Amino acid sequence: MIIGFVQTKGGTGKSTLAVNMAFSRSMGREFDSIALVELDSQGTLKSWWEEREEMGYDPGKVSFHHISSTQKEVFQQGIKSISDYNDLMVMDIPGESTGKLHTRFACAFCDLVIIPMRMSTNDESAFMNNLYPIIKEVIRAVPEKKGQFCVLPVFTHPRLNSRKCFDYFEDILPPQILCLQAVYPTRSVYENFNRKGLNLNEYAKLVESNKKFSQRVERAIEDIEKISKIIIKTGKGNHDII
Ligand SMILES: Nc1ncnc2c1ncn2[C@@H]1O[C@H](COP(=O)(O)OP(=O)(O)O)[C@@H](O)[C@H]1O
Ligand SMILES: [Mg+2]
Repeated sequence: MIIGFVQTKGGTGKSTLAVNMAFSRSMGREFDSIALVELDSQGTLKSWWEEREEMGYDPGKVSFHHISSTQKEVFQQGIKSISDYNDLMVMDIPGESTGKLHTRFACAFCDLVIIPMRMSTNDESAFMNNLYPIIKEVIRAVPEKKGQFCVLPVFTHPRLNSRKCFDYFEDILPPQILCLQAVYPTRSVYENFNRKGLNLNEYAKLVESNKKFSQRVERAIEDIEKISKIIIKTGKGNHDII
């Protein structure tokens, strides 16, 4: 299965989601080899991965691949060969690139394109103006494309009724774009852990003696596991989505 986190707008949680999804227990149970792929010249995940390697953290089933080339044939070939050798590929796609090449390719290549989006008119108009035209173009150009485009509501209030959130997106989204039946709430835990090269589960171990921190990280882990399970179902064609 090939999953891409795609958003032309920055700061929507793509990189954080990609990392934690790749390391989630649900994905680990379902897939034997997991490739986390960063397509970004900035290399935010690359530095994070190098920090992990220096610290000697166990990657488990996850391998990391950084493709910085913006040359179409080079990065496409790179991605295709990684996908041949892995059961699951999770891609972090940069928001802006020359001619939105990466976004275009990811939209055509992924089984599941996850679009992290806030419940805000700002994100909504950015999506309609920038990303949706690309999606429409891909659907038009590749009519047999079976992949699915799904919005994942992000940075929702932790106490928000998810149903309200799904209804909101159902109202505003064009028919080809679905809403995943999971949300990614705002959690303060994300501000601390990822700069140390840790993933959520490792951070949980680090803070297990501190009850307050421990509860916080457990809630974030629950969010990620729920999202991962819905993504697995959706990817298998069991469309538990609106
Ligand atoms: N659920 C969350 N709650 C609060 N902050 C988050 C959450 N997920 C990510 N963040 C923070 O939001 C910022 C943007 O996230 P990032 O994953 O880098 O987004 P993107 O890759 O889309 O630019 C980062 O500072 C990150 O730590
Ligand atoms: Mg990022």
